[in-house]
Amino acid sequence: MITVKALRVIERADLVLAPVAGPGRSSAAELVIRAHMNVEAAPVVFPMTRDAVERDAALRGQLEELRPRWEGAASVALPVIGDSALYATAAYFYGVWRTIDPSVGLELVPGVSAHSLAASRAGRFLALGDEVFSVVPGTAGREMVALALKSCDAAALYKPSALGEELRSVVESAGPWREILRADRAGLPGERLIKGPEALSRPDEYLSTLLLWRRGR
Ligand SMILES: C[S@@+](CC[C@H](N)C(=O)[O-])C[C@H]1O[C@@H](n2cnc3c(N)ncnc32)[C@H](O)[C@@H]1O
Repeated sequence: MITVKALRVIERADLVLAPVAGPGRSSAAELVIRAHMNVEAAPVVFPMTRDAVERDAALRGQLEELRPRWEGAASVALPVIGDSALYATAAYFYGVWRTIDPSVGLELVPGVSAHSLAASRAGRFLALGDEVFSVVPGTAGREMVALALKSCDAAALYKPSALGEELRSVVESAGPWREILRADRAGLPGERLIKGPEALSRPDEYLSTLLLWRRGR
C-alpha cells in the first residue's frame, strides 16, 4: 500500500534511496514501490544498532559515498514502511544529512501505519468513542510496555519481537484482553494474521504488530 502522493514524489525524484537492514538485504519499502512502478533505487544500510555513534557514522559514510548522486539534485526520495513520521529510522538519516549539508530540506509524506494496515487486513476497528488507544514499542522494555498497556483500552504493540519469550507474560500482566491479533508482514508476501493466545508466542518476524482490545468488538 502506497499513497498517490508518495508515488508522485518518487516519480519526480532525481534519486531514490532504498533503506535496507544490511548489505545485500532486500528493502520492504522498495518491494512495495516496485509493485507500482519501475524504479532504480540506491540501497542505504540502516544499521540495526541502538548505538547512536555507530549508527550515525555508518550513515555519514554512505551519504559521503552517494554525494555525487545527491549533490545538486532537486529532490531525493527515501521511501519508508508505514508512516514517515512514526518510528522511522529515516529521521536519523535526515539528522546526519543536515550536519553534512545544512541546506537540505525535509518533506514528510504521510503513509499508512502498520496498526492501520493490520486492522484493515483483519477487518477490525481500532478504537471507538472514548476508548484510549496506545501505540507502544516493544523496545521500551517490559516495565514500560506493561505500564503503557495497563493504561489503555486498546493498543498496537510495535516491534513485539524485541520482547522475545517475555511477550506473553508482559501482555498478559496488563490484561485481561478480549481480543488479541498479531499481523506478521501485513500487506506483504508471507502475510500472517494470528488470533488469540497463539498471537503471544515468540514472534521471530520483525515486521510484526500486535493489536490488543480490552473490550469486545
Ligand atoms: C521502525 S518501525 C516502522 C513503523 C512504520 N513507520 C509505521 O508507521 O508502521 C518497524 C515496526 O513497524 C511495524 N511494521 C511495519 N511494517 C509492518 C508490516 N507490514 N506488518 C506488520 N508490522 C509492521 C512492526 O512492528 C515493525 O517492528
